[in-house]
Amino acid sequence: MTIRVFENDRLAAKAAATIFASEILKKPDCIIGLATGSTPVPTYQELIRLNQEGVLDFSKVRSFNLDEYVGLAPEHPCSYRRFMNEQLFDHINIDKANTHVPSGIGDDPEKNAAEYDAAIEAAGGVDLQLLGIGHNGHIGFNEPCDRFIAPTNIVTLTDSTINANTRFFEKREDVPRKAISMGIRTIMSARRILMIATGEGKAQAVRDMICGDIDPRHPASILQAHHNVQILLDKGAASLL
Ligand code: PGA
Repeated sequence: MTIRVFENDRLAAKAAATIFASEILKKPDCIIGLATGSTPVPTYQELIRLNQEGVLDFSKVRSFNLDEYVGLAPEHPCSYRRFMNEQLFDHINIDKANTHVPSGIGDDPEKNAAEYDAAIEAAGGVDLQLLGIGHNGHIGFNEPCDRFIAPTNIVTLTDSTINANTRFFEKREDVPRKAISMGIRTIMSARRILMIATGEGKAQAVRDMICGDIDPRHPASILQAHHNVQILLDKGAASLL
């Protein structure tokens, strides 16, 4: 693991965007794995700036997002598809047909999950996967558990995640209880992983990820076993290291 600590979240985001830029410049048709939540937003703002200034061309880039809520249609204001459109895709020259977010609707969520892994594989696998980390150590929506779940799958969200994500909804009851998430194997199959964690609230999860045993009760700890992981932290998230 390469760990870099920045003065603040803006500088971490600039570094993250630079890593994306180098990947896209090297391989214009690369496959990027994307994340939702508050953490990646400053990185997306940097990528939008680089695209609008003509530095970065997304016209051949393909993307796969980590997760989606079960039961929310793509046009739902709190869906992750909508989030990605609003925070990134609507502002860059990516072809929306090349962007993928797991489907949280339909009669057979398990089939959606299997098809998502198959689509990633058929595309050639993820070149660079962006991750955030939950306060409980989750990556994607892989919650603390007694074993690692390998493929993309349907997960039951923990109280910690529901509480953390209530801020995006009108009230807690509106937060879906289930989600479809890339599994641990799916995430670990990426050729390169970029994790961003910012704020003191993430400090314990970051410590468990880096300093603890590889343990499914701290899902992000599995990243210790990946051969190419960069972790970008601000001072707050690094405060317990
Ligand atoms: P956050 O979420 O960026 O909104 O804190 C990160 C995550 O849950 O993975």
